Amino acid sequence: MKKAKLTFEDKVIDLDVITGSENEIGIDISKLKIKSGMITLDPGFKNTGSCESKVTFLDGENGILRYRGYSIEDLANNADFLEVSYLLIYGELPTKKKYRQLLSDIQERSVLDEDVKKILETFPRSAHPMGMLSCLTSSLVAFDPSSVDVNDEEEMYDAFLNLLAKIPILVAWVFRRRRGLPLEYGDFGQGYVENVTKMMFKMPNKKYVENKVVVNAINKLLILHADHEQNCSTSTVRIVGSSQAGLFASISSGISALWGRLHGGANQAVLEMLEAIQNNGSNISEYIKKAKDKNDSFRLMGFGHRVYKNFDPRAKIIKKAAHDVLYDLGIDDPILEIAKNLEIEASKDQYFIDRKLYPNVDFYSGIIYKALKIPNEMFTVMFALGRLPGWIAHWREMRTKKEPIGRPRQIYTGEKLREFISIDKR
Ligand code: CMC
Repeated sequence: MKKAKLTFEDKVIDLDVITGSENEIGIDISKLKIKSGMITLDPGFKNTGSCESKVTFLDGENGILRYRGYSIEDLANNADFLEVSYLLIYGELPTKKKYRQLLSDIQERSVLDEDVKKILETFPRSAHPMGMLSCLTSSLVAFDPSSVDVNDEEEMYDAFLNLLAKIPILVAWVFRRRRGLPLEYGDFGQGYVENVTKMMFKMPNKKYVENKVVVNAINKLLILHADHEQNCSTSTVRIVGSSQAGLFASISSGISALWGRLHGGANQAVLEMLEAIQNNGSNISEYIKKAKDKNDSFRLMGFGHRVYKNFDPRAKIIKKAAHDVLYDLGIDDPILEIAKNLEIEASKDQYFIDRKLYPNVDFYSGIIYKALKIPNEMFTVMFALGRLPGWIAHWREMRTKKEPIGRPRQIYTGEKLREFISIDKR
């Protein structure tokens, strides 16, 4: 095994070096404290690997993303979201027989306790759908408090399929609740994404007619969001799960982490920003100027990424898909032009060039959701539905590898020991 040497004052500490299957190099510092009394410091984990993982490979310098070895381009253009979900969780693509079994096992579990409707109905109509989804996901624990035995593959399969069956129903229901529509069930036997789409869009007064453009667009978006290695929400799922909290509780925490504007919430923020630019006379330069101004907290939403420093391969696919979907649906949305012009202007600006800031997955996705008649507040919920198999895959990997509880250290910079002074003397 290769070694790295850390020199501090008169001490030299040998550290193991781990090499990944794509030659990524990590210095194993897990014994550093024991060997030297020191810890490492890395706020935001910008340079810290939290685990070894076989799920997703990401090369930020070269814009590469692969799930279990398959390129994101290949999967987004050819696969089906349920196949990709199985691939992420179990490491291999399902056979036709397995795929049919999956659909029928999901259909079998696609029922919620009637009391879940009561919980949903207590939320104000105006409640944000991400808050509702996180809360309803936690509430499922109350209806099935049994914990998952991670040594029992059958039990885990049952729990994972329960999530894959029940979360889409919750997604459809929070969407319908906001629109005042009756809460309905569907039939996963017709296809996973087909059923998600139907459960969302079926009107009580009309025969539902499937629109293939809509189904295909949602399928592609879900695949593109399905995993992204140790991002904020996935790390949250892993760290919550590492305390041996249950699967549903861990997933619910992931949903909350995803909600933030710097993570999945960016897709909603992007569309709101593009609409604000439109309402402001399409003054793109003004927004670029604001984004560069260090005294202004405004950031160009949908731009920049912790790992991608060249381009985000998902953004490339989504940009093309946005064109195709708008064309296929016969929609001429000036927001797409504003987004493209914003990208062009930012790409010529030294501030964005120096910091390697490019459109990320969230920059063009909202334009597609808008074309599909999905409201802004639902964008991040759609992201959560897509990310679900990734969260499950990481939870499974972490628990079956029996990873230790996630518990970072700190460098304390507060007061030294001082004596307590009673309140009447202060
Ligand atoms: N607009 C303007 N400046 C930016 C932006 C932006 N969108 N993103 C980064 N910067 C600047 C930042 O101010 C800093 O400048 P300086 O070096 O002068 O201080 C530099 O670029 C590095 O930024 P950082 O905040 O240290 O980078 P990070 O890796 O901590 O943050 C990020 C990554 C994605 C949170 C950040 O780029 C950002 O806030 N982007 C906007 C929100 C967004 O689109 N989020 C979605 C991320 S992708 C999908 C997902 O994770 O869900």
